[in-house]
Amino acid sequence: SSIAGLDASKVKVTKSDILKPLVANKDLVFGHTFTDHMISADWNEKEGWMAPEIKPYGSLALAPSAVVFHYASECFEGLKAYKDKKGNVRLFRPDMNMARMNRSTARIALPQFDGKELIKLIGDYIKLDERWIPSERGYSLYLRPTMIGTQEALGVNPPSNAKLFVIGCPVGPYYKTGFAAVKLKATTEFVRAWPRGTGDAKIGGNYAPGLLPQRLAAKEGYQQNLWLFGDEHQLTEVGTMNLFVLWKNESNELELVTPPLDGSILPGVTRDSILSLAKQWGEFKVSERKLTMPQLKEAVKSGRVQEMFGAGTACIVSPIKAIEYLGEELAIPLDPSNPESQAGPYTKRFNDAIMDIQYGDVESPWSVVV
Ligand code: COI
Repeated sequence: SSIAGLDASKVKVTKSDILKPLVANKDLVFGHTFTDHMISADWNEKEGWMAPEIKPYGSLALAPSAVVFHYASECFEGLKAYKDKKGNVRLFRPDMNMARMNRSTARIALPQFDGKELIKLIGDYIKLDERWIPSERGYSLYLRPTMIGTQEALGVNPPSNAKLFVIGCPVGPYYKTGFAAVKLKATTEFVRAWPRGTGDAKIGGNYAPGLLPQRLAAKEGYQQNLWLFGDEHQLTEVGTMNLFVLWKNESNELELVTPPLDGSILPGVTRDSILSLAKQWGEFKVSERKLTMPQLKEAVKSGRVQEMFGAGTACIVSPIKAIEYLGEELAIPLDPSNPESQAGPYTKRFNDAIMDIQYGDVESPWSVVV
């Protein structure tokens, strides 16, 4: 057929006449500063992907009838670019983001694209905007690939037109408090996702409904909410992150547990990386299995919980120090050998091992020089 695939070799580059002043690392607020350029590519069902563009960062012009505004035809990714000590620009496991984005687009009837081509375009884009990639450890360029349905139509149908774009922002720590342990409020009145729903797709429609529970948690002094599922109050995710518990299990074995990918859990790149590292280390049992709040509460009370953390691209790991559950605050240990510490020893070790790879200090096939 004559339907065109996304083709990075066809890219049209238009450089911005005015370059914005850089923002000092210490002044960066997550996702508030954008680079000079962006990637954009349009698709329609008759012709496929049009030639992609790299052009000045700027507003989109869309009809008010565009499907994205009505039926949430939107999915996105988050990945980071790093500068290593030699000045190379690196991406962390970008193939995972491309594969997941194609699963997200498939789930909401947006088009597929060749992930290798988008990685090439991202390479061109971030080399053009290279001055925006911080080199200090802990800082990076957060990339936001996004696809939206742009067809002007109020009928509820798979969109005939779509737009793929990528923007980038220099970022430091996700939370204003930096690398500090957070307190969670377990949400019992709302559910994030359910088996065979869309919880495993990175679609905008999964995030807006999380804002109210997050606000309710914040009002009571909790930085994030803990999402539960079902009558047994299974732990699922923390805010927008995957969840890990390191504990002595019911058989008194040291075990790292994370909820299984049953369709309601976002298959995180950081989640997968932590599971791989833990299996390589071979120092404890590694399990993807269900865990309920009553089980966790019992384990906290009997001193079996050692560490808990959220895991995601934005934070890498986010140590957890307390969980409010049905009116009771459960204290989660950080580092028992150091009362000043904001993270348990394994939480910190996962964070450091992943960072070493991301910044190219430790060679790994996960870190791709572009
Ligand atoms: C994460 O990387 O943990 C996220 O989910 C990113 C968030 C800004 C949506």
